[in-house]
Order: sequence, then C-alpha cells, then structure tokens
Amino acid sequence: MNPIVSDIKTIDESRQGEAFYLPDTEDINDIILKRFYIESYGCQMNFSDSEIVASILSECRYKPTQDIEKANLILLNTCSIREKAEETIRKRLRTIDKIKISRPGTMVGILGCMAERLKQSLLEDEKLVDLVVGPDAYRDLPRLLNQVEDGDKGINVYLSREETYADISPVRLESNGVTAFISIMRGCDNMCSFCVVPFTRGRERSRDPFTIVSEASHLFERGYREVTLLGQNVDSYKWQHPETHETYSFARLLEQVANVHPDLRVRFSTSHPKDMTDDVLHVMARHENICKYIHLPVQSGSSRVLSLMNRTYDREWYKNRIEAIRQIVPECAVSSDIIAGFCTETDEDHKETLSMMAWADYCMSYMFSYSERPGTLAARKYTDDIDEDTKKTRLSEIIALQRQLSAEHNARDVGKTFKVLIEGDSRKSESEFKGRNSQNKMIVFPKAPGLNPGNYVHVFIESSNSATLLGRIVTN
Ligand code: SAH
Ligand code: SF4
Ligand code: F3S
Repeated sequence: MNPIVSDIKTIDESRQGEAFYLPDTEDINDIILKRFYIESYGCQMNFSDSEIVASILSECRYKPTQDIEKANLILLNTCSIREKAEETIRKRLRTIDKIKISRPGTMVGILGCMAERLKQSLLEDEKLVDLVVGPDAYRDLPRLLNQVEDGDKGINVYLSREETYADISPVRLESNGVTAFISIMRGCDNMCSFCVVPFTRGRERSRDPFTIVSEASHLFERGYREVTLLGQNVDSYKWQHPETHETYSFARLLEQVANVHPDLRVRFSTSHPKDMTDDVLHVMARHENICKYIHLPVQSGSSRVLSLMNRTYDREWYKNRIEAIRQIVPECAVSSDIIAGFCTETDEDHKETLSMMAWADYCMSYMFSYSERPGTLAARKYTDDIDEDTKKTRLSEIIALQRQLSAEHNARDVGKTFKVLIEGDSRKSESEFKGRNSQNKMIVFPKAPGLNPGNYVHVFIESSNSATLLGRIVTN
C-alpha cells in the first residue's frame, strides 16, 4: 500500500496532492479532445483505480493533462479512512472552486470512497461539484459525463457484488515504467469496528486470475520489472472457475504471477493476520522473485483492544504468524499499521502495543491516531473516550519507537550487499539512482555507465539513516 516519517507519514498524507501526469503533447486532435486532470488520495487501491478511470475516459475522447488550468474535467479520487482525509478534500475543493469560477464550463467530479460515503449530500453541500461516482460505477462515467455536459448533475454510487474491472487495461499514469500495481480483488468482508472501507468499497470479490497473470505478462513485455498485487485482504483472495469449479487461492495466484518471469519481482499488500497462511509463506520461500516483505498490520498489541476492534485474532495468534514468517522466510521484513487511542485503550494496552512493535521488530509502520468514522461498528457501539492529548502522546511514543526500530534495522544492513531494482533518479541528485531491495528498503547509490531504470544491480551498503540505505554498486 508507502513511506515513513515526516519521516513518518500516513498512507494518505504521504501522497496527498500528487497528480498523475502524462506528457501534454499538443496535436491537432487537441481541438476535439477534452482534457481531464486527476488527483488521487488514500491507499494504493485508489491510485490503481485512477488508472482504470483514465482508461475508461480515453474511450470517450478524454486525454489526461498534468495542468489543472487546462482541464475541462477535474477529478478528485478521494479517501474517507480518517476525518482528516475528508477535510483535505473539502479544502482542495475550495481552491478548485476558484478555478471553476475563472473558467466557466469546467466540470468537477468526486470519485472514490468519499463519493460513496456521502453520496447525494456531496452535491448538496459542495455546490460546484457536478459529478459523484463511487468505486464500482466508473464504467458509467461516459453516460454521466454526457449528462453533466448537458448541464445536469451526474451521480452513480451503486456498489456491485461482481465488478472487478477485469477486462479494463489500465492507462499507466505517472509511471516510472518499472513498477506497477495490479488490483486482484475489491471490497472487504471484514468488519473491523473502526473501519469505513466495507461501507465505501462494498463486498469482497476476487478478479479472474487469468486476467491478472496476463496483465503481469503484458507489463513485463513492456519493460516493467515489478508488480504489486493489491487488495484490502489479499489472503482471502478466492476465485472459482465457472466451468471446472477449480478454485484459486492467493498462494496459487501468487505462484502463477511469480512464474511469469524470474526477472519480474512480485509484491503484495495487504496481508491480514487472521488469514495469512503458511502456504503463502512457502510459495514466497520457493521463488526468489517474490519479495521478502510482508505488510501485516497489527493495529494494537492488546488482545482486549483487538477484540473490540473486531480483528478476530489476538496477540498470541499474531505472534504465531510472525514466528511462522521467521521460520519459513527468515530473511523477510515485516511492517505494520498501528492505531493509537482506540476506544477504552488504557496505558497498559498502549504499552502492549509498544512491546509488540519491539518484539515484531517492524522495519516500518504506518501510525495513526483513532478517528471515529460515522456508521462504523465502533461509532455505534463504543464511545470515542480517549482525549486528543492522550491520543497524541501515545502516537508520538509509537512514532519515536518506530523511528528507533527503523534506524536499528537499517544500521544492521550496513556492510551487506543487496540485489536492487533501479527505479529512477534519486530525489536529491541526478547523479544517483534509487531502487529497492527485496525487503522494500529504499537504497540510494551513485550511477554507473550503461545502467538504466529497470536494471538489477548489486549494491554494497555503506551507511544508513532511519529512512534510507546508502551504498555503491559492486560486481556481485
Ligand atoms: N485492509 C487493510 C487496511 C486498510 S486501511 C488492513 O486490514 O490492514 C489502512 C489503515 O488505516 C488500517 O490498517 C488502520 O491502521 C488505519 N485506519 C483505518 N480506519 C481508521 C480509523 N478510523 N482511525 C484511524 N486509523 C484507521
Ligand atoms: Fe478495514 Fe479491516 Fe477491511 Fe482492512 S480488513 S479494509 S481494516 S475492515
Ligand atoms: Fe481510503 Fe478508500 Fe483506500 S477509504 S484507504 S481510499 S479504500
């Protein structure tokens, strides 16, 4: 699903405001083509969905632009996971309103989870929004756009039990040409009491594995060298062949994607502790190209809080899953999501979260303070009784511990050599490349002649900080 820090940023905060870019080529078709601009917020599923939206829009003569001022259609693909995520969108709409006033005729649309959660009320509260489309209704965009072009509002927030967009070939936006996301399932059937996702994304459904493998092969042929299989709970992936009734588990799918080519790295996110099987771990151990990295969100280290969260595992179960990882895939790095200050959380519960973090030795975590979401089980059943100051103090303790764990993790890598997939220039310098090792650590190193993004190199690690490893290329 994304990086640490101010060092530690949350999923949505880390990518907020990023737009997707394709070159703005001027050609004769521009006269008849319309341009859309899209900004994506929230998790990787949303970023991946924006690529599906781009594909659907290209069918109705809309071309992407990186320049919001040139767009006929401005889209925000939104997130509802915490209150702050929705506030960010409302603020963004205030600036977009100004653009719309200065350029009458510009259409503004809200896509994604906030569209699904707020539905019609978004059109009523945000007068300049013309279009509200939920995550399962993107195929309806051409019709809805016609409606908006005719001066009406367009809304479709129907949640489907079948839609997986399996046949749609995503337009790779803002792509580095090396790494890509592939959605393998949609929705979520878990009912974690704090979480809005089951309401905004609907029921869980898995995508046809043949279309997943073919998308991965196609990406490899086009020069991509890493795919990340995406789902809210990849371990519950389940697909049945309509004729043979043969079933495909996540372990089987993972193996098939790994078999596309040994030079295609495979990652996946997110794993759920209650469903992560040893089968998946054995597949990981068998294939060098399946990256040795698992994002296994714990949420809390206290069994009592986990039960209130309805996570359906306890501390012991979670530890058992980490032990299985250590035994079957010893070189695997593990990261987590943690919520501070969930309803009724005591200092003792909080300490259990800290001790779990240290025990599990996370290489990285996304850390949040609890934000009550309307309609969720927790909002209906429990009181959001931990005051903001306590939440803040606990969250900062969690962040400080993670920073220390990440720094220690990285310090242990100094002196080791890793196989690294080059992703592009480092953020700071054009004379350096950045890339990741199998454990998902970002590594920065000086360029060498003849190497390009998409190549694998071996890098010897010379130094580190809590976010990055620094090294030099060595000949294996
Ligand atoms: N499907 C993934 C999580 C998706 S949401 C899983 O089950 O692990 C990403 C993360 O946001 C969650 O893991 C959780 O840590 C956090 N989150 C979700 N709802 C939240 C809320 N109401 N308040 C604070 N953090 C929340
Ligand atoms: Fe939300 Fe739980 Fe589903 Fe993750 S598994 S998306 S936290 S309900
Ligand atoms: Fe946000 Fe929706 Fe993802 S609520 S985290 S964009 S599934």
